[in-house]
Amino acid sequence: MKVLGICGSPRKGANTEFALNFTLNELKAMGFETETVLLSEKEVKFCNHCGKCLEGKECPIKDDAKGIFERMLLADAIIVASPVYYVSVSAQLKALFDRSIMVRGKLKGKVGGAIAVGQVRNGGQEMVCEQIHQWMLTHEMKIVPMRFGGMLVGSMKDFEAVKRDEAGLNSCKNLAKKVAEALRSK
Ligand SMILES: Cc1cc2nc3c(=O)[nH]c(=O)nc-3n(C[C@H](O)[C@H](O)[C@H](O)COP(=O)(O)O)c2cc1C
Repeated sequence: MKVLGICGSPRKGANTEFALNFTLNELKAMGFETETVLLSEKEVKFCNHCGKCLEGKECPIKDDAKGIFERMLLADAIIVASPVYYVSVSAQLKALFDRSIMVRGKLKGKVGGAIAVGQVRNGGQEMVCEQIHQWMLTHEMKIVPMRFGGMLVGSMKDFEAVKRDEAGLNSCKNLAKKVAEALRSK
């Protein structure tokens, strides 16, 4: 079974990417196949509500969004990780969420998990996990319970701060365990 991780941080090699890879490595150790999409390496433009997808036509915006959704369709579980930006997901991730109207009805039943990384403890990680969960629920995905979201403390200046957040890394281990349980009971 395949788990796809989407990293919503625009900073390559920073805290959110580490937290996601840490979680995926836990799942790999449990025998799951994993794959990662880094939005720091992709171009995803904003949805402009042109309405073409609602008419069953292909999205006319030419960028990396379609390729990312193709990978989502092949995954059994999707873990979405975002930095906390003003108590919200990153704009890069929100752009991807809005464009996901093109896979409406096609993510149903996939297992979903969320990870959020902020500058401080209680800096909005719960809100960000909740936003990611709401997006997943809108797609009728099967989310793992909120208290098993990965919630970590990173840093604006230190790309490696998250590596020292033992409680945060433990929350990622719990998330991986819960995603594995949900996949095995599918
Ligand atoms: C525009 C912006 C807004 C931010 N807002 C918050 C916030 O509301 N709460 C918080 O805890 N950290 C906030 N941060 C800090 C980031 O969440 C933190 O630096 C995190 O480590 C970023 O993830 P990254 O290291 O993967 O890039 C903000 C950072 C930026 C750039």
